[in-house]
Amino acid sequence: MLGFTLNEDQEMLAKTVKDFATKEVEPKIAELDEKQQFDDSILEKMKELDLLGVCIPEKYGGAGFDYVSLGLACEELEAVDTSLRVILSVHVGLNSMTMLTWANEEQKQKYLAPQARGEKIATFGLTEPNAGSDVRGLQTTAKKEGDHYVLNGEKMWISLADVADHFLIFAWTDMEKKKQKDYKGISCFIVSRDMGIETGTIHGKLGVRAGNTGWIAMNDVKVPAENMMGEEGEGFKIAMSALDNGRYTVAAGATGLVRACRDACLKYSKERETFGNPIGDYQLVKQMIAKMVRDYETSRLLYLKVGWMKNEGLRHTKEVSLAKWVACDASEAASGDAVQLHGAYGFSNEYPVERYYRNCKGAVIYEGTREIQQLMQADYALGNRKDGNVRKELPKYDPSEWLEE
Ligand code: CAA
Repeated sequence: MLGFTLNEDQEMLAKTVKDFATKEVEPKIAELDEKQQFDDSILEKMKELDLLGVCIPEKYGGAGFDYVSLGLACEELEAVDTSLRVILSVHVGLNSMTMLTWANEEQKQKYLAPQARGEKIATFGLTEPNAGSDVRGLQTTAKKEGDHYVLNGEKMWISLADVADHFLIFAWTDMEKKKQKDYKGISCFIVSRDMGIETGTIHGKLGVRAGNTGWIAMNDVKVPAENMMGEEGEGFKIAMSALDNGRYTVAAGATGLVRACRDACLKYSKERETFGNPIGDYQLVKQMIAKMVRDYETSRLLYLKVGWMKNEGLRHTKEVSLAKWVACDASEAASGDAVQLHGAYGFSNEYPVERYYRNCKGAVIYEGTREIQQLMQADYALGNRKDGNVRKELPKYDPSEWLEE
C-alpha cells in the first residue's frame, strides 16, 4: 500500500545520515571544495555507518535497508554537498544495485559483497570522450581470446574513477553489430583495478569539486570470461537498468539541494534588512521562497514514489526519468534564486549558496541530460516508447530475504 509516512527504520537512517553529513562534513566542505580535494576519511566514515551497502541484502554484505532509505540518504547527503551523494550514486546505484540484479551468485559473493561491506569501492564505466547520450556510439571493444576478453578503449567523466577498485565496463563484443550500431553487440564486464586499468582525475570542474571525477584507459586489459555480467549482448539493457537506479539517487539528491537552498534563504531572509525591513517581508523574495517550497515538496513526492515502486518490484523507467528531470531543473532554479536572494554575498563563497549554484549543474547533464529526459517523457506520452521485456529486474524489497536472523 502507498502511504505518506516513513517507517521507523527509514526515519532513523535519514537522521543518522543527516547527523554525519552536518556534523562531520559540513564544517570542512568549503575548504575541500576550494582545494578540489577528495577526502578519503569520508568514505571510511560512510563504511562505518554501513552506507556503502545501504540497500543491499545482508547476505551480500549490505545493511538490508529498503530503496526508499537509499533515496532519503541521498537527500540528506546532497543537502550538505553533492560530492557526498555522488558516492552513493555510483557505488550503490549504478554499480552495486546493478550487480544485485544482473550478477550471478559467484560474482555477487566475489565482487558485490566486499563493495556492500565498504571494503572495495565501485564505479560505472559507460560514458566515453565521444559517447554520452548516444550510448550506442561507444568505442570500447572486448575481443575474446581463449578464456579471456581483451579490453581496449577509454571512459570519461567517471565519478570515483581514481578511487574505485571495481568497475562495470561496457564494451562491444560483436564487431559486426558495432558497425551497424546494433545495441545487441554491447556486453558488460566486471573489471577490477588490478587487471590493468589506468585512471586519472579531471580538475577544473565547475562544481562538485570535493568529488572525484576522472577518466579510465584500457590498453589490452585482460578480463576473465567469467567476469562478463549477464549474457553476451545484454550490456545495453544492463546499462539502461543501471541508469534507472542512478537516476533515482540523482533525483533524491537534487531534492536535498533544493531543500538546502530553501533553508539558506529562509535564514538569510530573516537576518538581512533593506529599507528598514527584513527582506523576507518583500513579496518578490516571498515568491522565490514559495517556489523553493513547491519544488522541494514536488521533487520529494516524485522520488519517494519511485522508491516505493522499486520496493514493490515495479518497472519505473518512465517515473524515474521524470523524477530526475523535475528535481534537477528544480535544483538549478532554486540555487540560481538562492544566489540572487543573497545579493552580492551570494556571489561570493562566504555563503554556501554559491557552491550549490555550481554543484547543481552536473546533474542536469549527467545520467541522462535534461533533453534526454524530455524526449523520453514526450515519447512515452506519444506512445513512441514502451518498456520492453527485460530478462532480469531489480529484486523487490523483501525484509524476510534481506535481513538475516
Ligand atoms: N531497463 C531495461 N531495458 C531497457 C531500459 C531499461 N531502463 N531502457 C531501454 N531498455 C531496452 C528497451 O526495451 C529495448 O529493448 P528491446 O529492443 O528488446 O525492446 C532496448 O533496451 C533499446 O532501448 P531504446 O530503444 O530505448 O534505446 P535507444 O538507443 O533509443 O536509447 C536513450 C534511448 C533514452 C537515448 C538512451 O540511450 C539513454 O538513456 N541515453 C542517455 C545515457 C546516459 O544517461 N548516460 C549517462 C551515463 S552515466 C554518467 O554520466 C556518470 C558517471 O559518473 C558514471
